[in-house]
Amino acid sequence: MKLRTSALATATALGLALTGMAWAEPVEDTLTIETDDGQITMVTTAPAPAHLSDVMDTIYSGWHFRDAETRAMQMDDFDNPGMVFVDRGLDAWNAALGKNGESCAGCHQSPESMAGLRAVVPRVDEKTGKLMLMEDYINSCVTERMGLEAWGMTSKSMKDMLALISFQSRGMTVNVATDGAAAPYWEKGREIYYTRYGQLELACANCHEDNYGNYIRSDHLSQGQINGFPVYRLKNAGILSAQQRLIGCVRDTRAETFKAGSDELKALELYVASRGNGLSVEGVSVRN
Ligand code: HEC
Ligand code: HEC
Repeated sequence: MKLRTSALATATALGLALTGMAWAEPVEDTLTIETDDGQITMVTTAPAPAHLSDVMDTIYSGWHFRDAETRAMQMDDFDNPGMVFVDRGLDAWNAALGKNGESCAGCHQSPESMAGLRAVVPRVDEKTGKLMLMEDYINSCVTERMGLEAWGMTSKSMKDMLALISFQSRGMTVNVATDGAAAPYWEKGREIYYTRYGQLELACANCHEDNYGNYIRSDHLSQGQINGFPVYRLKNAGILSAQQRLIGCVRDTRAETFKAGSDELKALELYVASRGNGLSVEGVSVRN
């Protein structure tokens, strides 16, 4: 077996210096957010879900791996640039966008009616038996109930709406189902997570399971959790969906990547979400 040495080979391939200096604990800090109506404290560190008990004890939000300045931006809604997208989502929610003037609000009332959804999606839809991302739910209303063309998976309209809907579940505990109807999708996602892709022959696990805490160039590697998504990314000065982040990470291994909304990336999003079962939904978080 050369399983463990492969992690070292990986590190070498990445040019990681696996010395004391290059490794750093996730920062010890508490994410309490100043909101319009008080404070909420997020669960950013939790015991690993049972399905990960062989590989790790503790799961950490990506927030613990960012620098003090980036962490601080997420601690006050006033400073969080992602809130602009939540506001834009709210405008779209209330607008008569549909072919016959339908609006999201017309059927769903306040966006607060979506509270709790982000915490359990991706999930298998009871009626169709299909795995649904939040984007799929949104698009089913956009097309079937508003008579419009589907929104692009990574379009501005889609990401504004993702920001608004995720925000309604902020502080709730991620708890996606991995069993029952979800099991085959979850297995598929798991398989992808451990498959080595691209010229670099790296699996998600090589970086986010074997090497979190290490630095890749100036980046402090996290566990690659998606409880904070969509995130405001300072580098892009814009909002990034989980699907886009997964695509970016596959691309970084110099592999041909999957398309947003493909069966592969849907299964992968479910699996990655399940690795964060127990953390808080951070709604719109801030990353570098
Ligand atoms: C004509 C009425 C109508 C309009 C307009 C509409 N929806 Fe829906 N939406 C529904 C119905 C009905 C369901 C299914 C509810 C159920 O199965 O419990 C649904 C389900 C959803 C769900 C899944 C909710 C859940 O708990 O499973 C989301 C998310 C959603 N809609 C978002 C939107 C958004 C965003 C818009 C505006 C872009 C919108 N909807 C517009 C009627 C509508
Ligand atoms: C070459 C190493 C590498 C590989 C392989 C890799 N990633 Fe990443 N990933 C990174 C880096 C670097 C970042 C940015 C810093 C961080 O949050 O870890 C990142 C960030 C992420 C994030 C955002 C975390 C947050 O809190 O903002 C997610 C989610 C993620 N990766 C998932 C994956 C998945 C799923 C795979 C497999 C398809 C994967 N990554 C493969 C290096 C990698």
